[in-house]
Amino acid sequence: MRSHYCGHINESHIDDTVTLCGWVHRRRDHGGVIFIDLRDREGIAQVVFDPDTEAAFALAESVRNEYVLKVVGRVRQRPEGTENPDMPTGRVEVLGKELEIFNRADTPPFMLDIEDDEVSEEHRLRYRYVDLRRPAMFQRLKLRSEIVRVLRNSLDEKGFLDIETPMLTAATPEGARDYLVPSRTHPGQFFALPQSPQLFKQLLMMSGMDRYYQIVRCFRDEDLRADRQPEFTQLDIEASFMDEEELMGLMEEMMRELFAHVLEETLPNPFPRMSYAEAMARFGSDKPDLRIPLELVDVADLMQEVEFKVFAGPAKDPKGRVTALRLPQGGELTRKEIDDYTQYVGIYGAKGLAYIKVNELAKGRDGLQSPILKFLPDATIDGIMQRTGAEDGDLVFFGADKANIVSEALGALRVKLGHDRGLVERGWRPLWVVDFPMFEHDASGTEGRWTALHHPFTAPKEEHLELLHSDPGACLSRAYDMVLNGTEVGGGSQRIYRKEVQQEVFDKLGIDEYEAQTKFGFLLDALKYGCPPHGGIAFGLDRLVMLMTGAPSIREVMAFPKTQSAACLLTNAPSEVNPTQLRELGIKLRAKPKVAAGGTEEE
Ligand code: AMO
Ligand code: AMP
Repeated sequence: MRSHYCGHINESHIDDTVTLCGWVHRRRDHGGVIFIDLRDREGIAQVVFDPDTEAAFALAESVRNEYVLKVVGRVRQRPEGTENPDMPTGRVEVLGKELEIFNRADTPPFMLDIEDDEVSEEHRLRYRYVDLRRPAMFQRLKLRSEIVRVLRNSLDEKGFLDIETPMLTAATPEGARDYLVPSRTHPGQFFALPQSPQLFKQLLMMSGMDRYYQIVRCFRDEDLRADRQPEFTQLDIEASFMDEEELMGLMEEMMRELFAHVLEETLPNPFPRMSYAEAMARFGSDKPDLRIPLELVDVADLMQEVEFKVFAGPAKDPKGRVTALRLPQGGELTRKEIDDYTQYVGIYGAKGLAYIKVNELAKGRDGLQSPILKFLPDATIDGIMQRTGAEDGDLVFFGADKANIVSEALGALRVKLGHDRGLVERGWRPLWVVDFPMFEHDASGTEGRWTALHHPFTAPKEEHLELLHSDPGACLSRAYDMVLNGTEVGGGSQRIYRKEVQQEVFDKLGIDEYEAQTKFGFLLDALKYGCPPHGGIAFGLDRLVMLMTGAPSIREVMAFPKTQSAACLLTNAPSEVNPTQLRELGIKLRAKPKVAAGGTEEE
């Protein structure tokens, strides 16, 4: 139908007759001449109609924004002084000879030359098909497609096989709630949509497939954030007879290839590595953004005996943490700004945010300014100044509480200060975080009740097998996360491949034999019939694309994402179903669903 994309017309086409198809981006009447900016996914071409071509001109007068047209015309140089250097097609225009209107369009719900945040996201999602016409959206989806192609090529070359796994399956525990699908043929029974293909990919290793990958949708019913969606895409990988060293090496190589091909960026070789313990200690996070040159410095040992109970308490508590965060030139912060940061750390449960302003270090105590100074002896103050490396003009923040609260709050503060103060360095800072604990205390915090930090199939370090019994909290796992600029882009581990160890880990997680057998019997059985050592990783494809496109959320790199409340505004899903369907499924609703007649959720 067309000879060229609008966005591809250039000076090499001068005097050629071309046929373009696309949407009317804008129409302008100029002294008896009509200009139409015709847009397709590749860009915009300026088409000119003059009254000499009578029929086409008359039609052109009637077109409005977003009409869909076909134009036949001749390419010519734009008259001098009318070139547009900002447009790739800006040196030429098409003199329209024929015009066909395929379809008229109502006034679009919003202009297409908006920036992402100029219209509410709700509006954009409701009219996503219009939103996706915007060049910024097309560019992101195009880059996403390129990223997928390069990743596939890289894995194909490395001998990985693309194998599909079921969507209607049994629950895979990855820490979120399941999306359930009722079975009609087995009334009262449910499938779960996979939170990940974890168990299937392990079974594929037991089947001798050796190297597997899949670009696969995963479903998790969890609290949503900028980098979380209820359905998202993983690049899922598993390999046999390949230990963590080899696997991490191969994955780094894939990432280096990806960034070189798509962004012409060179990532480090090898990626730096850091233990979980070090990451928490220095950055208060297991996904530290290394572009931000601020670090936490523990000072509990200096605070044991101070008068200030807020500090002394956690300093003496083995589960407590007292830490300092030095902000260079932070002395500039106003009282209001400090109050705002105090409120910010409150989100993470911090009960306050003590600070010391360093005016003039040489003057000792008199050169400092702080509401807590009076509680601290000279030796403590000196110690803090030395350890944080404070200089004149700086400000030192403090957090004191249970270790997890302090790490989270000051870790988040570190990132916020980095952004607010323009301290984020440019570039790409990948990092492997390793040596994760096997277990963490479950949400109830009850002594002796554990949940898996990764998932229950992650192998403990061989040399820590004994700790599984004696000190589960100290037992480290063979898990690894790939972190990029403060986002966890991938996570994986070497797996348990011996039945006894798997049973023991289930046991520690409070999964008794009956539950283990009913939920994971097939895995335990499979472990009996010849299981190779194996391990793998899964990357969050959406997160990776978000980072590589510079998008502010993963919703911006998905064609049809869901809202924060896990709904699709375009199709109005989820929605009620008719009673016949429910009856067929053997389902009776307990209470009237809280959904208004229009299908929108009542708040
Ligand atoms: P994990 O749960 O760490 O590991 O998930 C792997 C990666 O998937 C991405 N991710 C998400 N992206 C968008 N929305 C979400 N709701 C979401 N949840 C996770 C993250 C994360 O690093 N089976 C294991 C992998 C393995 O052990 O091989 C797993 O799923 O980028
Ligand atoms: P207060 O004694 O409550 O007036 O607190 C004195 C200073 O300590 C204030 O700047 C508080 O913000 C700060 N503060 C209070 N609790 C904590 C805490 N748990 N961690 C860090 N600073 C705190």
